[in-house]
Amino acid sequence: MQSVITRRKKTIRDIDVRGKRVLVRADFNVPLNEDGAIADDTRIRASLPTIRYLCERDARVILCSHLDRPKGVVEERLRLALVANRLSLLLDRPVAALQDCIGPEVESAVAAMSGGDIVLLENLRFHPEEKADDPAFAEQLAGLAEIYVNDAFGASHRAHASVVGVPGHLPAVAGLLLEKEVEAFTHILQRPERPFAAVIGGAKVSDKLEVLENIISRVDLLLIGGGMAATFLAARGYGTGGSRVETDRLDAVRTLEATAADRGVRLLLPRDVIVAERLEPGSAVQVVPAAEIPEDRVIADIGPGAADEFCRELSRCRTVVWNGPMGVFEVPEFAEGTRRIAAALANLDGTTVIGGGSTTDAVVRFGLADRMTHVSTGGGAALTMLAGRPLPGVEVLDDVGEV
Ligand code: 3PG
Repeated sequence: MQSVITRRKKTIRDIDVRGKRVLVRADFNVPLNEDGAIADDTRIRASLPTIRYLCERDARVILCSHLDRPKGVVEERLRLALVANRLSLLLDRPVAALQDCIGPEVESAVAAMSGGDIVLLENLRFHPEEKADDPAFAEQLAGLAEIYVNDAFGASHRAHASVVGVPGHLPAVAGLLLEKEVEAFTHILQRPERPFAAVIGGAKVSDKLEVLENIISRVDLLLIGGGMAATFLAARGYGTGGSRVETDRLDAVRTLEATAADRGVRLLLPRDVIVAERLEPGSAVQVVPAAEIPEDRVIADIGPGAADEFCRELSRCRTVVWNGPMGVFEVPEFAEGTRRIAAALANLDGTTVIGGGSTTDAVVRFGLADRMTHVSTGGGAALTMLAGRPLPGVEVLDDVGEV
């Protein structure tokens, strides 16, 4: 079996940070409203324990992050000053937003810092060198600090300069959020309490194939929902109406079914589904058995019978990982299946790990995030871990035992 994280990495608790200049790579890539305000500050809140830990030890905290995907140029609406303001409110202390992330002005601002001060560098992706993992850019960033901390779990699957370049120049350790995230996924993949179930949904099989292939040999039960259920149903020979079927994945899905059968893993598809003419608000909905999907309808959610069955099965589990909504939950008419699964997990007497991206959005939206064991702040990074692949940003950190 592939291991998720090969060696134990040092964290900020393993080194002396007192009074040091510490460069913290955070993931402040928060969603923004149309008016440019922060729509959800979960990722900012998640970074607070590391920042507080460092401030309490009089470290000089130099934060850095990307925001969205500016293509190597300054985009005014993506400046990080708004994140600095939110951080300052949450921490109840000043957080200075700098105008760039490298260069002489940044260097003098950092040189003027005292113990416990916090600055936030400007959006790293205003420089094309960040995504290119440019060595000179990484060196300039590293030159600002004496210690590097990766607390950006959500960006740790990216081999970018601030994630994999800087650690080559400094003692490099994990922050408290990164540690918590990696530990949560490692725990369920390597030492789950059984029965262990995975609930996998979302639009496409192709986005989750590696996850499915990895998880199938680890779980006792696999529940499939979301748009991807259409490809699974088609592989079993059902008609799926106008739903999108990934014909190039039918063989892969049949292989997964065969692996599940070989290993005694129960793989359940929705027995009924909510169908609609279009995946839009106001579209008339209908509940139909999965074997009777009308030609002119598309699957929009799992049906009530499927939700009952899935929830009943989950209530017997001791560990559940969930990645991918059961339907188009952003549209109220198609949200019930996702809401039912979220509620079942919130009530579970066991370990529940929510695997990031839109699944995290869903549990936050339903007000149930606090009732899960772990709600990941990573999208692609969570998928990488669930696929059993190492995260480049974790691999480069110092191992315990390394001087
Ligand atoms: C995320 O939102 O998943 C991370 O912040 C990474 O962002 P990216 O997909 O733009 O690299």
